[in-house]
Amino acid sequence: VHCQAWIRRHRFVLLTQDSADKEDFDDEWEISGPTLYAHKEETLIVDVYNRGKYNITIHWHGVKMPRYPWSDGPEYITQCAIKPGGKFSQKVIFSAEEGTLWWHAHSDWSRATVHGAIIVYPKHGTVYPFPKPYAEVPIVLGEWWKQDVMKVLEEFVRTGGTPNDSDAFTINGQPGDLYPCSKPGTFKLTVEHGKTYLLRIINAAMNEILFLSIAKHKLTVVGADASYTKPLKTKYITISPGQTIDALFHANRHHGRYYIAARAYSAGNIPFDNTTTTAIIQYAGKKSTATSPPLFPHLPYHNDTRAMVNFTGSLRSLGSKDHPVNVPLKITTPMISTVLLNTLPCHPNRTCLGPNGTRLAASMNNLSWVNPSLDILQAYYYHIKGVFGDRFPNFPPYVFNFTADYFPMELEIPKKTRQVKILKYNSTVEVVFQGTNLVAGVDHPIHLHGHSFYVVGWGFGNYDKFKDPLTYNLVDPPLLNTVAVPRNGWITIRFKANNPGVWFLHCHFERHLTWGMETVFIVKNGKHHNATMLPPPPDMPPC
Ligand code: C2O
Ligand code: CU
Repeated sequence: VHCQAWIRRHRFVLLTQDSADKEDFDDEWEISGPTLYAHKEETLIVDVYNRGKYNITIHWHGVKMPRYPWSDGPEYITQCAIKPGGKFSQKVIFSAEEGTLWWHAHSDWSRATVHGAIIVYPKHGTVYPFPKPYAEVPIVLGEWWKQDVMKVLEEFVRTGGTPNDSDAFTINGQPGDLYPCSKPGTFKLTVEHGKTYLLRIINAAMNEILFLSIAKHKLTVVGADASYTKPLKTKYITISPGQTIDALFHANRHHGRYYIAARAYSAGNIPFDNTTTTAIIQYAGKKSTATSPPLFPHLPYHNDTRAMVNFTGSLRSLGSKDHPVNVPLKITTPMISTVLLNTLPCHPNRTCLGPNGTRLAASMNNLSWVNPSLDILQAYYYHIKGVFGDRFPNFPPYVFNFTADYFPMELEIPKKTRQVKILKYNSTVEVVFQGTNLVAGVDHPIHLHGHSFYVVGWGFGNYDKFKDPLTYNLVDPPLLNTVAVPRNGWITIRFKANNPGVWFLHCHFERHLTWGMETVFIVKNGKHHNATMLPPPPDMPPC
């Protein structure tokens, strides 16, 4: 019964040159878009045609786009939307990344269905830092909504409350056989005994960190966010929206069928989709297709915050001769940023569904971002005044004790602004993200465009500027582009601002993004001509 209610969502199509010639846009159901393939240091030109009925922009998540923010994609930050019927030719410039990334829409909530994998192979003439796998398999974790996602967004904005959740999670577009009448909708992978497979796992879900594990098999993580890690053997992985994990799967059993299962981590008292999506790994050969049900793996509990952070906390950069670690040791720009949910007054004549009739909001350093009508990049490049301010504070406005029950009123109501943070070229930046439980204690997967960052430390409770830095890993911390700030805890990142341009920094939970948990880093030009932003392409979509 439930399945019948699952409707088709609007189709957006991203075309690479191959498929552009074929013109097959009709009815065929595809939940995930095409996979892009590149080698390290190559540049791809992707022609994006908007043949849907909504405005859209496309972002290449984790691709640094050196000196070229023009193709980065976030709406109102680096470009205005591609209108229905429009086209934008985007240059995707690969530099240091190697491994799995993904592309997704970066306007409204269209990324729910408009996304796909990006696979970056080693540079021509070089190899993986692990034995070549027998085969590679993208595993895209996504969602289904019974409702039209755009309608969910509308209602969400109108009522100021918590929005509807998705109705199922999916693995490669299929919910799996634990949902009613969805048996045929299960992704199956046939493997051969003794072979090793590289799983390229992407969390494309909108609002949930996911746990994933496979029955009777361990995974060996070898990369995260397109950067190699020391091999990490694990029974489960934690993956935040936006993150990607490369993991080796050794088919060391002889026969049988085993579930891959994924479900949400959620610790607050916030409603979430608590269903489990499954795929099936099936060993080749007659014995495995017997009718006995596949074995089910053990997954951490939905509210197991330790399991959630311990996984990320165990990741270490590979740190080999070919893949060295370069953690900034001297910090020129120290920052602390609170990431919190708060509330705003309801619009007059409306009923709002947030706490005490307010509407929910979110902020960084108590500033709740409001999109301009002209993108920040253009305003910066052409010196257009009045679009943004340059006073995003390096530190939060209050001395805070966020685990206490008392909060100053001023903190409860954030300021709506468009303050950005200007960074000098090559400055070394440290940001401590401090989570809180003001409205609700939730985790925040923070994502930075244009750079990867080292995650040098994390902990629970309040960050202690004397004690906590002593625990930092400055030797081999993981190099990521998205990291979850634990609920009621903190996390410290470091990076060198060596990519001139305009770069979005935001929570990768779509609702928190809509509520304003974001700001922009503008990295200024350096002196050398190699250290300056490149000019815009002629076909930037007009505002
Ligand atoms: Cu995955 Cu700002 O994006
Ligand atoms: Cu968040």
